[in-house]
Amino acid sequence: MTGEPAEFLRCLRVKLLRTAFGALYGPLARVYDLITVLFFAGEWARWQAVAAGRLAGPKILELGSGTGSLAVRLIAAGYDYTGLEPSPAMLGVGLRRLRAAGRPFNLVRGRAQQLPFKDQTFNSVLATFPTDYALDPATWAEVLRVLRPGGRWVVVYAGALKPFGLRRRLAGFAQRLILGPRENPAPPGLPGMPGFRVRFWEEATPGGVAFGWEATRVLPAEVPVEVPAADPEQNRVAVGTEETDADPGGGPQ
Ligand SMILES: C[S@@+](CC[C@H](N)C(=O)[O-])C[C@H]1O[C@@H](n2cnc3c(N)ncnc32)[C@H](O)[C@@H]1O
Repeated sequence: MTGEPAEFLRCLRVKLLRTAFGALYGPLARVYDLITVLFFAGEWARWQAVAAGRLAGPKILELGSGTGSLAVRLIAAGYDYTGLEPSPAMLGVGLRRLRAAGRPFNLVRGRAQQLPFKDQTFNSVLATFPTDYALDPATWAEVLRVLRPGGRWVVVYAGALKPFGLRRRLAGFAQRLILGPRENPAPPGLPGMPGFRVRFWEEATPGGVAFGWEATRVLPAEVPVEVPAADPEQNRVAVGTEETDADPGGGPQ
């Protein structure tokens, strides 16, 4: 199909997908994990783990922490963990999961574009399968600001399944049906941000490949980071702080 009908169908698909994702991060947050397992044949958690393997610690910040599925593993691995998530429904699921794990954590309601943390707080910032916020220059400025010099901004922006085995082929078929024709993703156009050294990577997992980038803060400690003016009230809504040191912006350790 070409021309206007094809463009109409493409726009319709994008609109439907946006609505579906909005529901998944909202009223359907409780089934989010089940859907990622079914739709990605169990590979999602392995793609998330690739980000974990690239972190420098001890103090880490996860943007868009979602249902806390990666958070529990990071906390169990001994990281001093802070998660940030704007969706109250996703936060609710994450909070229950982290409380059940019984270890200290810090979970904050907020947006990546306005981080409620002090300058140079974290050794690493990570995000797995972020939405558009990861390409927003405001997010990059904020990540640069809260990272310590030499710190890393690690993102898994996509994953692809190997077309072997019934489960993966079924999942691939469902993806093509719902998301449209799939090819290995091209690296996204990142906002040019002086102060970072960026490289893209691909890493094989048992049933697929994870795609990501790693940006290292090369800006020295004494150089201030310019960030867009922010409304502090919009983001400083702590929904659950269960940490011995309750101040997420507690300065360098
Ligand atoms: C595809 S989900 C990924 C969740 C989780 N990281 C994972 O790997 O399953 C995207 C998440 O980003 C969150 N999000 C959306 N806009 C955001 C923003 N401006 N800042 C931070 N997180 C955001 C959504 O609420 C959602 O939980």
